This record gives sequence, structure tokens and C-alpha cells, in this order.
Amino acid sequence: MFSLVLPTYNEAENLPELLPKIREVLKDIPHEIIVVDDDSPDHTWEVALHLTQEMQDAHVIRRVGRRGLSSAIIEGFLAAKGDVLGVMDADGQHDIDLLPRIYSVVQGNTDLAIGSRYVEGGSIGTWDERRHALSRLATNLARWLCKVRVEDPMSGFFAIRRSTFEATMPTLNPKGFKLLLDILVHAPRTTRVQEIPLQFGVRTHGESKLSRRVQIEFIEYLYDVTFGKYIPLVFVKYCIVGFVGVFVHMGAYTLAAAALRHGNDLTIGNFSLSVGIAVETAVLFNFMLNNLWTFARDRLRGFAAVLGFLKFNVACIFGALANMAVSTFLFSRGFPEFMSVMVGACTGVVWNYTMSRLLTWRGKM
Ligand code: GDD
Ligand code: MN
Repeated sequence: MFSLVLPTYNEAENLPELLPKIREVLKDIPHEIIVVDDDSPDHTWEVALHLTQEMQDAHVIRRVGRRGLSSAIIEGFLAAKGDVLGVMDADGQHDIDLLPRIYSVVQGNTDLAIGSRYVEGGSIGTWDERRHALSRLATNLARWLCKVRVEDPMSGFFAIRRSTFEATMPTLNPKGFKLLLDILVHAPRTTRVQEIPLQFGVRTHGESKLSRRVQIEFIEYLYDVTFGKYIPLVFVKYCIVGFVGVFVHMGAYTLAAAALRHGNDLTIGNFSLSVGIAVETAVLFNFMLNNLWTFARDRLRGFAAVLGFLKFNVACIFGALANMAVSTFLFSRGFPEFMSVMVGACTGVVWNYTMSRLLTWRGKM
């Protein structure tokens, strides 16, 4: 049996045109259709339920509080009963007439059939130059990672043998859009693949959900499966934030010192106060950026964020004191002003790192 998953997010206008066509094309093949909708604001799930009311082998999964193309497809595959599992865009961009061929290829002795835009006879249709270039770049980077070589590892139109999917499933990373790539990265080298030329069409209604966020997730994914094994991505992000934080510290110091300076004179007390203001600014900056980016998955919101910020201050307090002590000492001994601030900031960073390493994440950082 062929289980076809249709992931949807705001495709209420497209489904009524698409579903009957799919049924028609697959009428001689034992099949089921599984719509996986992420609680679309346009009520795609409701439209899907209505359309499939009379259909024996059609199901609708409505996921609430979750988003993501890859995880939606995985969830659809897990609910499927067929020995061949397929997926296609629910917006009319994928050529429905290829479905029987894709199915029969996997029915034969191939494990994975891909609707490919980059083999002879395939094409990407009418994309603007920017999307074109981005896709080419992503495809080239992706190809280089795959254990199993193909021309179009980023395609959203493919079918896979159930046993191949089950063998690969536990290692998959369900973030973002790149399920096929992830399968190609983790599937056994012996996986047999066939690419079928696909002319990528235009969306019937609505717009693409491949957002900037999805693109960033793709870059993070590339890191995860290459260097991420040696140095975890969160640690790299934490360091980048800390590095940028030093510049925030310097900037905030410059402003505070300018306000507290009388003529050219800066008293040691006012120097210390300026460093203190700069430290707190940097702590706030680091907290916000780490919360938004580094630890985006466990992001703190509302009152928990306020509490988290207070805890973060406690964690930083000795680094901050070390910073202020060192910079004030140097400045009072006649060291150049900005040099003192910079050396102080670096002391704070080294201190925090050492303490985290010794006490908090012993041996992990
Ligand atoms: N359930 C669910 N959740 N479905 C989603 C989500 C989501 O978060 N995001 C997108 N979809 C659905 C869309 O409704 C559509 O049916 C399908 O997944 C593909 O999304 P599109 O927004 O149409 O993507 P695209 O056409 O820009 O991108 C195509 O090309 C990419 C490579 O260039 C797709 O085929 C991608 O899979 C492919 O990687
Ligand atoms: Mn699409």
C-alpha cells in the first residue's frame, strides 16, 4: 500500500483542488492519504476533515502547539500503514502524475524515489534569482554531506520504503524543512536511490513557508552534523554572544564615561561606576541574546524570564567583580583608560568560563 503524506500549513484553498486529483491519479493503486496540519490559522484541518469525510482511506492529523515541516512528515509516516511512504507539497507545485511512477519504483527494488529538479528533464520553474541562488548553494552544501549521493537532496517530493525509513528514523533531526537530506545523511550507504525528473511548478494559492528562520535552521543543521559532534552548537553560540558582549561592554562604557566626565577628567570613582554600568548592560545583553538564540528551545518567557535574569546576574557576579577590580586597579595605576576597560572585560570572561567549567559544567565546556 502507498501511504501519501500531505503536510499542510495554511493550504485551505489548495486542498479542495488537490485531493480529488490525487484520488484520480491513484485510483488503481491501493493507497491512503494522511494530511498533517499544524493547526493552521486558515483552518486547513477543518477543510481537510470535510473533504475526507466520505473517503475510506484518508486521515487528518491536527497538531496543536507544534510547527515544522520535517516533524509533520515524520509524524505522518509514523501513523501510516503502507509499505511505501510518500510525501508531496500540498500546494500544487509537485507533479501529481509522477505519483504512480514514484510508487512503483519503491515497490520494485529501490529504497528511495525522489522527484528531482536537478536531473536531466527536471527543472525548478519560475523562481526569482535570489531563491534560485540560495537553493543552488544549499543543494551543493547538502550534497557534500550525503552518504548516499543524489542530485536533489533538498526535494520535498519523495517516497521511501517503510523498512528504510524505520531504520533511519531514530537518528533523524526533525528541525526545519530538510527531511530528505537528513535521511540521506543517516541512511545506510547501501540504500538504493532513483531520481525521477520533476518540473517544479508554481503554487496554486498562498505563499511559501520557507522562511528566513528555516534557512537559519538549515545552516545550524549543517554545523550539527559536521563539527557539532566535536563542539556543540550551543557552546559556539554562547561564545559568539560573549564575544559580541565585550563590544557591547566597551560601547556602554564609552557612553557612561562620557556622561560622567568633567572636561577631560574622570575620577577613579566615576571610572568604576562607568565600568559597573557597562557590566550590567553587557549582562543584560548576554542574557537576552542567549535566551532568544543560544537557548531558543528552552526560552524563558514572562515572569520566568525575569527570574532567569536575576539568576544570571548571580552567576555573573564574581566575574563582574573581577572585571571591576582589575580595570579600576589598572586605571588607578595610570594605565590607559580603554586598555584598562578591555583587560577588565577579558578578565571577567575568563573568570566566568573557568568557574563554569570548574563548578557548573564540569568537563563539558
Ligand atoms: N504541517 C506543516 N507544518 N506543514 C508545513 C509546514 C509546517 O510547519 N511548513 C510548510 N508546510 C507544508 C506546506 O503547507 C506545503 O504543503 C509543504 O509543506 C511545502 O511547503 P512550501 O511552503 O510550499 O515550501 P516551498 O515550496 O517553498 O519549498 C519546496 O522546495 C524546497 C526546496 O527548495 C518544498 O518542496 C520543500 O520541501 C523543499 O525543501
Ligand atoms: Mn511548495
